[in-house]
Amino acid sequence: MSDWPLSYLTSAGPRAREVVPLTWYVLLVSIAVSLVISALLWRALRRTRPEDQSIEIRDVPIERGTSGVRWISIGLMVSAVPLAVAFVWTLLTLAAIAGPPAHPGLVLDVTGRQWWWQVEYAASQPSDVFATANEIHIPVGVQVLVRLHGADVIHSFWVPQLSGKTDAIPGQTNTSWIQADKPGRYLGQCTEFCGAQHAHMQFEVVAEPREDFDRWESLQRQPAAVPSTAEASRGLSLVEYRCGLCHRVRGTAAGAVSAPDLTHLMTRRTLAAGTLLNNPGNLAGWVQNPQNIKPGNLMPNQFLSAQQLSDALAYLETLK
Ligand code: CUA
Repeated sequence: MSDWPLSYLTSAGPRAREVVPLTWYVLLVSIAVSLVISALLWRALRRTRPEDQSIEIRDVPIERGTSGVRWISIGLMVSAVPLAVAFVWTLLTLAAIAGPPAHPGLVLDVTGRQWWWQVEYAASQPSDVFATANEIHIPVGVQVLVRLHGADVIHSFWVPQLSGKTDAIPGQTNTSWIQADKPGRYLGQCTEFCGAQHAHMQFEVVAEPREDFDRWESLQRQPAAVPSTAEASRGLSLVEYRCGLCHRVRGTAAGAVSAPDLTHLMTRRTLAAGTLLNNPGNLAGWVQNPQNIKPGNLMPNQFLSAQQLSDALAYLETLK
């Protein structure tokens, strides 16, 4: 469903598959209710007044027949049945999808931040732990446990075609899990209002065959490549002292973790949490003037000279 990347009416994994039929049911019942109410309202509005205009409106007797009460009973019964079905179905669906997998094939720590997603891949060897941002790679057919954290305010993790919404709350660890049936890119979106750039807080889940995932993972564990040109070397020093107070590039002096890890920046498809495609022009625009593109985000405008910008880009483009 690449045309409708946030469609919640189709599923691409076992967890979403439990939810989608219930979603359809509630949607169709809601449409039916809207149509019936509209039809009744239309009929009431079209009712003609009595012919005899001589009757003052206050003289019209209040009918006290039983038919009105009967209609209320019928209406209650008609709405109680679909509501009861929805209630029981919801409980069954919650029970089916709630439990995080006991033996997940992959464990991720995902932290919602204003306004991007930090993704850490847990590993038994501390040296194998690595972080990326706004792009979650998973192997196809594997249950992935997602531990959710909040760094500042409440965010909510949602990949409609793989799983429902789970809040990422500061000071608390919630768990979600995802599993994809087939390779593909599945769009995720923060779904709890978290400030001015809430809409620009997207991420992608990239489901890949096992070999592709393993290749991606071993690449991500590598430190950044050492620059081979003079321009890129100057760029590295600039990145270390200008960007390194917030960002990390493993293998360099840039070691902070309050902004996205840039070690393999060029392997990611988007910049600024889905705001821009990651290409040289957008990267240049973003580095120079992020407040123009995503006002209010924590990255200040850089005011680099043309030479500095071109050096910085020459280096950033080596982060493959
Ligand atoms: Cu984060 Cu909305």
